[in-house]
Amino acid sequence: MTDSTQRAVAQEADWETAPRLLDGAKELTLGPEECNLAYWITQVAQGTLRDRGVTGHHESAFVPDFLKQPGPLREALVLEFGFRGLSEEIATRLLAPYVEVAPGIPQMEFYATQLLDEARHARVFRNHLVELGMPEATLLRDIDEMAVEYRREVLQPVIDFTLDIVQKQRDFAGGVAVFAIVIEGVLAPAAELSERKWTPLSPATGEISRGTAIDEIRHLTVASTILRDHVRQNPEYRPRLREILQAGVELWDSIDDRRFVIHREELFQQGMEQHADRIGDYEIWPGTRLLDTRPDQRYDMAEQWTDEMAEARMAYMGLPVGWLNSPERSVA
Ligand SMILES: [Fe+2]
Ligand SMILES: [Fe+2]
Repeated sequence: MTDSTQRAVAQEADWETAPRLLDGAKELTLGPEECNLAYWITQVAQGTLRDRGVTGHHESAFVPDFLKQPGPLREALVLEFGFRGLSEEIATRLLAPYVEVAPGIPQMEFYATQLLDEARHARVFRNHLVELGMPEATLLRDIDEMAVEYRREVLQPVIDFTLDIVQKQRDFAGGVAVFAIVIEGVLAPAAELSERKWTPLSPATGEISRGTAIDEIRHLTVASTILRDHVRQNPEYRPRLREILQAGVELWDSIDDRRFVIHREELFQQGMEQHADRIGDYEIWPGTRLLDTRPDQRYDMAEQWTDEMAEARMAYMGLPVGWLNSPERSVA
């Protein structure tokens, strides 16, 4: 229940009324002037995060005991949140040069808040592993160990690509495109899938994913507005932007992230079947029961969402969606 003496929170930041990530990212039009530091303090820190600031979930949203016992479902969740925690830590570090090179105060403030958001995401994903019973003392080392290949094969190429543009070339708009379209444009649908998968199994896990998704709507939409305005005011930048986006598409084509996702989706599948009674007729998307889905089908749906979201955001920015296609791209 919301205390009626508290100020109303903007609809897109309110826990109860915020849209789903994909709907919000496709339909909302937030900009950096609106989502400034004051907005972040009042609408996010004191709004979205009210009662959820420490763990990312409400204290009434519990972690079920079966997820604390060994088994494929726990293994899937540890892998997923371990990798996501590490990715969010890297996202935080990558955003430091964005704050540094931001051309104006609204952009600087916005990226300062996004940097904090990502640091917080890293923290709640990591700490969820402690809630699952992993020892806190060795947590960072344990995550590093399980993510050695993921870091080397998926994260490192993305780090190199991003820093070249935002730090070495000090190209702020190019960096915004890389973060919002190349990085978060792909990760957001995975986050949406996560929220939908875990909600019937673990209220705490579902809430953590939901909270990060609410932040993601803001990250994606504000970045789109920054880019839209930049190409409106600097049409000569369009060819450069196209180059960056196509290089980003080629980068993903060269990275085999699918095998990491499919591995944990297969573990999830085994675990889901063991705990089918908890899921029942829950639908992962309208008309499809979670229990009737397969690992590759869930992966393909996330890819389809990526394409749909990209299409909507590109249209909003006044850019051709064809810029995100590469001849080699194999979309299932
Ligand atoms: Fe994040
Ligand atoms: Fe983000």
